[in-house]
Amino acid sequence: MIVAAEDEAPSFVLVSGPGEDREIGVSRARIEGGAIVWDVGAGELSALTSEKLRRIGSGLIRRSDVSGSVRLDVSAITGFGVEKLAQALTEGLLLGGYRFDRYRTSSSLPQPSARARVTVALVGSPQDREALQAGIDRAVTLCDSVMVVRDLVNEPPSVMTPRRFVEMAEEIASSQQLEVRVWDENDAAREGLGGLLGVARGSNEPPRMLRLHYVPRDGGQGPKIGLVGKGITFDSGGLSLKSGTGMMAMKGDMAGAAIVLGTMAALSKLGVRAEVYGYMALTENLPSGSAQKPGDVLTARNGKTIEVLNTDAEGRLVLADALSLAVEDGCDQIVDIATLTGAKVVALGSEIGAIMGTSDELMTELRQIGDETGEEFWPLPLPDRYKKHIASDIADMKNIGKAGEAGAIAAGLLLREFVGAASWAHLDVAGSELTDSVDGYSGPGATGFGVRTLATWLATRR
Ligand code: BES
Ligand code: MN
Ligand code: ZN
Repeated sequence: MIVAAEDEAPSFVLVSGPGEDREIGVSRARIEGGAIVWDVGAGELSALTSEKLRRIGSGLIRRSDVSGSVRLDVSAITGFGVEKLAQALTEGLLLGGYRFDRYRTSSSLPQPSARARVTVALVGSPQDREALQAGIDRAVTLCDSVMVVRDLVNEPPSVMTPRRFVEMAEEIASSQQLEVRVWDENDAAREGLGGLLGVARGSNEPPRMLRLHYVPRDGGQGPKIGLVGKGITFDSGGLSLKSGTGMMAMKGDMAGAAIVLGTMAALSKLGVRAEVYGYMALTENLPSGSAQKPGDVLTARNGKTIEVLNTDAEGRLVLADALSLAVEDGCDQIVDIATLTGAKVVALGSEIGAIMGTSDELMTELRQIGDETGEEFWPLPLPDRYKKHIASDIADMKNIGKAGEAGAIAAGLLLREFVGAASWAHLDVAGSELTDSVDGYSGPGATGFGVRTLATWLATRR
């Protein structure tokens, strides 16, 4: 699909206003100059949001009768901001048009008409052309990042192994001029990445720690930023084995790492002027004769010890090492993103992320951007009084909290032990990475939830 600004006669016209136009989405057809023109309702202008526009865009592209060349006239909507309007509509068009068909043969491919190449031209007033194009360009960059995440997360887990993930990252890094450092299993042992190695012990696939480094053209100004992603390419739970249904969606447990990679892919295109490190802790979590056992004690990169009482609480173990590395590299601001706890899914469901951290300012920034990207984050506290929940009898801490209580917070409290003095925010996106339903511009499959927020946040660093 191509999105471009073009001045031609419209076949869809975005309309807004009270009364009959209040209905959102494609509503009624009329004949204009011999051609069929569809009105697309955007509702009341005062109630118009980027999220509504994304849903209008995806609603349009998901119509089975949309094929070939389509023009969407947006010139009747004034007062929303042309650039923002073009960006949101384009995001909806691109994200709603996403398909993951790699593993389908012709027998189950969608109808040809639904797969046909579609060209959408956004048509505005001549004086708005530049703003229109700027909005389209921004959307294309952000959606490229979403596609990176969706493609990685949708792949079957035996394909998207830690080594395969690194290959994908190396391709992106070379096209975007990012520096790459990879720790293989020997490097990890030599450099004390005990959390990653502990989780990897049960698997035949070797783990990888991956770091991408973005240096802006002028060398970087302001704080150094670290992004950290959980990259469990399959989470069976380890010896604390999950149930069959419990592991059905666990190929998505590397979504955090995919989001970090997708974000890193956008930085130079967005002209980000901060120096950014992206850390991805990659391993499988499997049971075997060599797997770590409940009761084992790990030493993380920063020297702190963790008693592993449940091998299914593995995300925090690999993140402990990655966060420690970010601190060592001198990152002043660290944001980690992880499909970390089932407790988060219970508390907030799959469509809202949890945010915790040490910097109210950073958390507020991320939440404000999330409200605009449609990726909403709601705060949970990290109270010192619950540190007792992760107190261990024999080590510095244990990897689980109190049964049935504050599980997302216990995980956050453990992560806090590894961020030093950095301003830090933790995004728990468990359950948000995959969906089996079709809703707006997402699904079925990987959503990419979180990547537009991180990329947009970094785009403010310019
Ligand atoms: N990857 C899971 C969390 C998860 C759950 C992600 C649902 C996506 C959807 C994580 O590694 C996990 O298993 N967490 C355990 C921790 C518990 C053993 C303390 C959980 O939440 O059950
Ligand atoms: Mn787990
Ligand atoms: Zn996990």
